Amino acid sequence: MIDRITEQPFCQTRVMGSTGYENKIFNEDCLSTMDRMDKGIIDAIVTSPPYNTSRKGSSLDGASANVRYDEFNDCKTDDEYIAWTIDIFKAYDKVLKPNGVVLYNLSYSSENTHLMWLVVAEIMKQTNFLVADNIIWKKPTTSPNSCSPNKLTRLCEYVFVFCRKNEFETFECNKEVSSLRKTGQVAYKNYFNFIEAKNNDGSNDIHKATYSSELVRKLLLLYVKEGSLVYDSFMGTGTTAVACVIEKMKYVGSEISNRYVEMSKKRIATFENQTSLF
Ligand SMILES: C[S@@+](CC[C@H](N)C(=O)[O-])C[C@H]1O[C@@H](n2cnc3c(N)ncnc32)[C@H](O)[C@@H]1O
Repeated sequence: MIDRITEQPFCQTRVMGSTGYENKIFNEDCLSTMDRMDKGIIDAIVTSPPYNTSRKGSSLDGASANVRYDEFNDCKTDDEYIAWTIDIFKAYDKVLKPNGVVLYNLSYSSENTHLMWLVVAEIMKQTNFLVADNIIWKKPTTSPNSCSPNKLTRLCEYVFVFCRKNEFETFECNKEVSSLRKTGQVAYKNYFNFIEAKNNDGSNDIHKATYSSELVRKLLLLYVKEGSLVYDSFMGTGTTAVACVIEKMKYVGSEISNRYVEMSKKRIATFENQTSLF
């Protein structure tokens, strides 16, 4: 079900045990959605924000020129982008339940290699979150070809695993125990911080910065339990929601572009119909 938010205050009847946000995408700024949400209702956040790589006139390798969004100017100053991200993480701190994680897919372009690192450092300085792990996402291909004389072709992106600073020892993860020693020491199976997954779920004409449901499904299986409520603050074409439907989790999303929301609606309906057949 997709909600188009209007100027009216959010109001709806809740089913017992539900938050009222299950399986909805709100066509609005994510800060507005999180502002309305009650504290601690989200089990995990999985998202990919705009990377701020569309610097006008600074495209050396052609890559950044391809990243444009309908309603969002991906061309802020570093300070603006950092301040915007900090506001979003402060809102995550409100809506995320205790011991929930934020799985934040970020990368950079060849004329903008510093910003991702600055943003991550500022999140750790200015909010209650810190990076508990860093997962490398290796894609099968890159596009377009690199035209940079000295920067390597970026086949990999990053997924930063943020937890609250005071939950560093306790944040949720689905690692299985492999052995329990007589001393009481527990050993866990290996789960490597490296994921191979498709670039996206197929090309489309309206959104050029999507990730793949294969990536999201692998992340969900590592950190999120079946039946959980997963929030994507930058839902784009609905990839996180599709992965949630397949993995029997509930989703809630925000997306400022109505065209992308409409596309999400069609994708989710297809997967929900397939899932209900089985
Ligand atoms: C990198 S894309 C996410 C793509 C998505 N993961 C997918 O696979 O389709 C970032 C999205 O954030 C949206 N966006 C930008 N600012 C936003 C905001 N403040 N609130 C909600 N959505 C926003 C953009 O329109 C864009 O679709």
